[in-house]
Amino acid sequence: MKNEPLFIAFSTQKGGVGKSTFTVLVASYLHYLKGLNVAVMDCDYPQCSVYEMRKREVRQLETNLHYQSKAIALFDSLGKQTYPIVCAKPEEGIIKAREFLANEPTDYNVVFFDLPGTINNDGVIATFMAMNYVFVPMAPSRMSMESTLSFIIPANELIAEHSDLNLKAIHLFWNRVDGRIKKEWLEHYEEVIRQFGLPLLKTAIPQSVRYDKEQSIEGSDAVFLSTIFPADKTLLKGSNLDLLVDDILEVLHLTPKL
Ligand SMILES: Nc1ncnc2c1ncn2[C@@H]1O[C@H](COP(=O)(O)OP(=O)(O)O)[C@@H](O)[C@H]1O
Ligand SMILES: [Mg+2]
Repeated sequence: MKNEPLFIAFSTQKGGVGKSTFTVLVASYLHYLKGLNVAVMDCDYPQCSVYEMRKREVRQLETNLHYQSKAIALFDSLGKQTYPIVCAKPEEGIIKAREFLANEPTDYNVVFFDLPGTINNDGVIATFMAMNYVFVPMAPSRMSMESTLSFIIPANELIAEHSDLNLKAIHLFWNRVDGRIKKEWLEHYEEVIRQFGLPLLKTAIPQSVRYDKEQSIEGSDAVFLSTIFPADKTLLKGSNLDLLVDDILEVLHLTPKL
């Protein structure tokens, strides 16, 4: 009997706040640095940006000897390869994930679902509700909060009323925190979040160029956002990604294998 993996999504109906970015960063961190077995269902169909990113990276690897030898050393030390990324329509995400898992010889610890930004259709809501945990990146601005909370508050109420749901909790976290944002504003926003009884992760992610662009695996520069490598240690400092991963593992009650 195989162990059931946790289904996790970085999700919100707000676009461009980091759903796909954190799906890749956290999937890579858990798979390559924490020794967990990860799969990704890319349900932001048809663009499937995470799936396309992997294809692009594999092509780049073919002509880059530096990264090729780095990849071989990484996979040798881990005794495993990259994590699989499956492109699927959002309403078929769960069925496709179950099919995929049933055909795999190995156990998975976590399956990440990258969902589209338009949650307000039945198929996407069903997939959202089939997650075990959802993490919601939110920028500290009034507009971002209003559009995020308008969906998250009712979803959180639903969870509170029905303990038999798959979805156990929705956790918010700050992303793109600009050093110029006033402390009083952040405290005010956090008070609003508390009043609605929404859990907020301790770690806030800063606005940083590291998150902003996908450094391709060209040349030999250290890479932060990649589906083939974990975020480079030299770039982790100040990114708070390592702290966010610790917060997430605590919520999931998952013990790292490395
Ligand atoms: N903390 C951050 N600092 C700077 N840029 C960020 C940060 N988080 C996300 N971004 C950038 O914002 C853009 C949108 O992110 P993405 O993950 O594609 O959003 P979504 O999947 O929610 O639409 C990307 O260019 C991404 O690199
Ligand atoms: Mg996306």
